[in-house]
Amino acid sequence: MLAGGTRAGEPGYPAAVPDFPPAFVWGVATAAHQVEGGNVNADWWAWEHQSGSGCVEPSGDACDSLHRWREDVDLVAQLGLNAYRFGVEWARVEPADGEWSLASLDHYRRICAACRARGIQPVVTLQHFTLPRWLAERGGWEAPDAAERFAAYAARVDAHLGDLVGRCCTVNEPNIASLMGYRLGLFPPGARDGPERQRAVNAATIRAHRAAVEALRAGRGRYPVGLTLAMAQLVAVEGGTAARDEARLLLEDEFLAATAGDDFVGVQCYTRLRFGPGGSLLPPADGVAVTQMGYEYWPQVVEHAVRRAANATGLPVVVTENGIATADDRQRIAYLAEALAGLARCVADGVDVRGYFVWSLLDNFEWTLGFAPTFGLVGVDRRTFERRPKPSAFWYGTVATTGRLPDQAGPGGRGGAATGEDAAASGSRDRDSPSAAPAG
Ligand code: BGC
Repeated sequence: MLAGGTRAGEPGYPAAVPDFPPAFVWGVATAAHQVEGGNVNADWWAWEHQSGSGCVEPSGDACDSLHRWREDVDLVAQLGLNAYRFGVEWARVEPADGEWSLASLDHYRRICAACRARGIQPVVTLQHFTLPRWLAERGGWEAPDAAERFAAYAARVDAHLGDLVGRCCTVNEPNIASLMGYRLGLFPPGARDGPERQRAVNAATIRAHRAAVEALRAGRGRYPVGLTLAMAQLVAVEGGTAARDEARLLLEDEFLAATAGDDFVGVQCYTRLRFGPGGSLLPPADGVAVTQMGYEYWPQVVEHAVRRAANATGLPVVVTENGIATADDRQRIAYLAEALAGLARCVADGVDVRGYFVWSLLDNFEWTLGFAPTFGLVGVDRRTFERRPKPSAFWYGTVATTGRLPDQAGPGGRGGAATGEDAAASGSRDRDSPSAAPAG
């Protein structure tokens, strides 16, 4: 369906923007290690403190979401969103080999219940780059029983909170974990090895994913299950075809094929990567803006990646992460607007895309780069942990509650009737309450 309305000439506002369907899932995402703080039993905690790891600073207290999670869930509700993707931390649930923490499981159950009480679908990620130290010491994903251990953990989580979970992501971006951890040496365990090792770890994470899907389906949960994949627009410039094709195979196609039998595929995308002479990764192209991450400002990637994932898998697609690291919140709004316009074109063409999650709710710990890149719709004071929503948070909330991009949502992109079931359910939410006031 096409709706009228234009802001022709303004960056990020296409001439005609289709609507999103009423049942569309509008969310924000975080990951346990990046926001919780004090995740001392995870391999990443050790990695951050290891000299030579390349980490610019430790995660420390992160955003203190371990204690402030209720504020985070309240923010999601106040913005009018209908889903929150957050992580369950394996290193907290099983801090030592075979020792389960009921208190941690209760903690994550409380977060799910708080989401439900506010009409928010809890979307749970079981593993987001971090592994328990005890498993890392035995080889991490390369440990012979890694898949079984992961499935046992998944089963525990399902048994404890599966009745409240709305959707489950098993392994987050296994393609990035194998690339960064086993080929480039930038994530734990810090190995710099060839494509064979990367491929073996790909296979290991796929085994773990499949074992977890089986365990979850055998349990009490009746929610959709899938993995999330980092995708990019992979482009070959002269001489770069072989490297681009290898990247496409090792980073995307092996995993897209491995989703057979899943309920959805989670697409996470941020940018475009160009391969040049000799297979080198080229710097950002002239004339293309660069984000705080050092890569190209490329919101077009969402439309590209969603179509590619849908074609390759035949599964419903959920954009489980998309966003931009920038200090300029107007640029964030322009980026999201253009990304969502591309997603709306997918919807108009009948691509089965069910939802979209902004990365991230909060400015948080960006792995080796520390706290400098700011992806959040909400800023976090690094000394007081105070949450300060940015204008983009309200902009996105309006898109979510109206199901439309802002040129159809009324003056300034504010106001307009909610169209979705979940948005309607959120009618009593006070989006102008003081705790949701925009940052100065
Ligand atoms: C990861 C997040 C990360 C984000 C931005 C994704 O690859 O899942 O953990 O913070 O990208 O770089």
